[in-house]
Order: sequence, then C-alpha cells, then structure tokens
Amino acid sequence: KIFTNAKQGSAYAAQQIAELIREKQAKNEPCVLGLATGSTPKSLYAELVRLHKEEGLSFKNVVAFNLDEYYPIERDAIQSYHRFMKQQLFDKVDIDQNNCHIPDGTTAKEEIKQHCAAYEQKIADAGGIDLQILGIGVNGHIGFNEPGSSIFTKTRLTTLTNSTRLANSYEFANISAVPRLAITMGIGTIIKAKKIILLAWGSTKAPVIREAVEGDDTEHVPASLLQNHDDVTFVVDEAAAAEL
Ligand code: GLP
Repeated sequence: KIFTNAKQGSAYAAQQIAELIREKQAKNEPCVLGLATGSTPKSLYAELVRLHKEEGLSFKNVVAFNLDEYYPIERDAIQSYHRFMKQQLFDKVDIDQNNCHIPDGTTAKEEIKQHCAAYEQKIADAGGIDLQILGIGVNGHIGFNEPGSSIFTKTRLTTLTNSTRLANSYEFANISAVPRLAITMGIGTIIKAKKIILLAWGSTKAPVIREAVEGDDTEHVPASLLQNHDDVTFVVDEAAAAEL
C-alpha cells in the first residue's frame, strides 16, 4: 500500500492495530503485538498515543514483544530499545508494563541461549504474535536479522554488519560506540506471526523495497523471505515506492 507520506501510512497501520485491539477486547482476549524500533515506527507510535488520548483506545489487553535489542546495553542507556519503547509508547498508554517484553541487553553472556529460548517460549505461551510490525534496514534486514539469516532462525545473539552499525551510528557518539552484537527474534520467529505489516519511508529505502517485493526470495535480502508469508502488507510512502 502506497501513501503520500509517512504520516498517512502510519495512520493506516495504527488503524489496523486499533481494530485488532478492539476486536480482541470484544472477545476478552489478549492482543499480541510484535513491535519494532528505529526511526520508522516513531510516527506510528505517535498516532497510537493520539488514539489512546483522544479516542480512548485502551492497551490493557495488549501483550507486546519487541524484535530486538543491542548487546550489551544497559536498559536505561539513551540508545537502548527499552528506553526507546518507554519513551515512544509504553509510558504514554495504559499498557501493563508486565506485558512489555524486550530482549534483555544486560543478560550475562553464558545465559544468552537460555534467555533467547525463554523469549521464544514466552511468545508461544502468549498464543503467538497476532500482528508483527517491522521496519527494514537499507541492506534488507528485519529486526537485526542481517543478510545471510535463514528462514529457520529463532531468537538469538547475532553480529551486526558494519553497514548497519554505520546506519545506526547517529544514535551514538561515533561508530566505534555502536555495539557489535544484538539479540534479535529470528526470521523463523517473525514469519510465525499471523499478520505482518512492514513500514518504510523515504528514498533511501526505495532500492531495498524493490528487491524485497519484486526480487527473488533470498537470504541475501532478509525482508524478501516475507514473500513466504500469506498475510504481509508493505506500507510505504511514495519515495520508498519509487523503484517499484
Ligand atoms: C534498526 C532496527 C530494525 C529497523 C531498522 C531500520 O537497526 N533493528 O528493527 O527496522 O534498523 O531502522 P530505521 O527505521 O531507523 O531506518
């Protein structure tokens, strides 16, 4: 779906989320959302906060699982995704903080495998993800699943590419301060979500949007593996759609 700008695309995605939350509320069921970070979903979270404040959208039945977190990183570090989610969404709506799950960047190295397996188990225990929101890296990564990640990957510790570290270095003092590792849901985890919405804004994403949508499905472009899912929508602005 192509929108004039990020604001309109975000309003569409927020509407999809709001409908699902209300549908689940009517049935007294939890609504399990998979959430993303980065600059892309900021306008989506702003719209969800507006729907909460102005239209009474409640998040009391929402269970959230975030895609990824840098490793290692303190929870309250300026660049941590814990802090990002609290600032952008969790502290601004009525979600139960106990229902907000994010991989823990302070996990001891020898406990990471166990932490990742437990994260997968928590998603399964919640009944699986109803709707997964994604951004996309210029190299096609989803979450922190860099090129080469297989469709079978689960939540794990992964190494960031230099291009991703460079792309994200604006959040840090300099590129050497960007962590080299991250904990991310796998592509296998993402693809199990019942519904997926991927957001992309701006001309820098145009080449990778073309590759992901019109190219072969290949591990070289992780987002192209979403072609194997039967309910995925790419919500893009005109600039990101320019090469389609
Ligand atoms: C980050 C995140 C991804 C995000 C992507 C794009 O590194 N780990 O989940 O989708 O890169 O970031 P942005 O939205 O800032 O372009």
